[in-house]
Amino acid sequence: MGVETLFKPFESENMHAVYEQARRAEPVFFCEELNCYVVTKHEDVLSVFSDPETYSAVNSQSPIRPFTERVSNILKQGNFTREPTQANTDPPKHSRIREISSGFLNARQYIALKPEIVRLTREALGSIQHKGRVDFVKEVTYELPAKVLFLLLGAPESDAFKIKQWADNRFNMVWGVLDEESEVAAAHALVDYWNYCKALVAAREKTPGDDYASYLLAARGGDDTKLTMNEIHSLIHGVMLAGHETTTNAAGGLILSLLQNPEQWRRLIANPGLIPNAVEEGLRYCPPLITWRRRANCDTSIRGVKIPKGANRS
Ligand code: HEM
Repeated sequence: MGVETLFKPFESENMHAVYEQARRAEPVFFCEELNCYVVTKHEDVLSVFSDPETYSAVNSQSPIRPFTERVSNILKQGNFTREPTQANTDPPKHSRIREISSGFLNARQYIALKPEIVRLTREALGSIQHKGRVDFVKEVTYELPAKVLFLLLGAPESDAFKIKQWADNRFNMVWGVLDEESEVAAAHALVDYWNYCKALVAAREKTPGDDYASYLLAARGGDDTKLTMNEIHSLIHGVMLAGHETTTNAAGGLILSLLQNPEQWRRLIANPGLIPNAVEEGLRYCPPLITWRRRANCDTSIRGVKIPKGANRS
């Protein structure tokens, strides 16, 4: 059976075997269900992502299935005006915004927060310490990354569950396929999520702090050519998903893989110095993001497969 037939984009079962077959036999193929060319070899993926002239990022956060009119109306009436600011923009807008955002969102910030991150992690692990059997994702890796992110955003820890649910909703709307009623409910939730982010920015306008929104407002300095208010709202909304979704998945994926490979688990317990390597390997072995999209700016080809201008690849 050909890879096109075996590849089921919304199912994880058997996924690695299908990718393996694709890399070996048909590394670039078209997927009808996604309306995308799928590129599976590491070197090809790297070459696509490092060539913004040929491949635009504009489609990277577009809904897999365009929103229905009903959903678009809910978003319009809810004044949901989120605009592309980071992952789904090309230069020069991408460069302008990245230069500002990376002044705050960087590894240095997280390193400085280490004592607080350790406290939150101890609290989460302490809460399951005496429970015999737990759902580790539900009890630990679901909310913890959001609480860590909130250290940068100044959002209250108690909002973590609500934000996670809103982020799941947005994720399913954009990267999943929902039935109409679920999509309508998700659209209302997306408007609430957007308003929450706007309210957070408004609060920092009144009382600045040392958080990301306050930093963006100061960097803007009232100058729309640097950043507009809508861009700031969009940046906060963006990081309110991007800053915890991946880490929840990475942590859950790594723990699951270790439990499935108990000899590796035992090695870690015996030698915690291996943990940084395990985290790196977890990102490779069970990545929290398995796909990302680009759109062809011109007719091109990869490994002899012709890709027409305007085509998506994943
Ligand atoms: C395992 C951890 C993570 C992985 C694998 C990951 C991966 C990614 C990828 C692949 C993108 C899209 C990049 C592009 O299109 O060029 C992205 C975007 C982004 N990530 Fe991460 N990320 C992780 C953790 C984080 C954390 C902890 C933060 C924040 C503190 C963060 C903030 C962002 C932001 C703000 C964006 C842009 C979102 C947007 O455009 O709306 N990420 N990330």
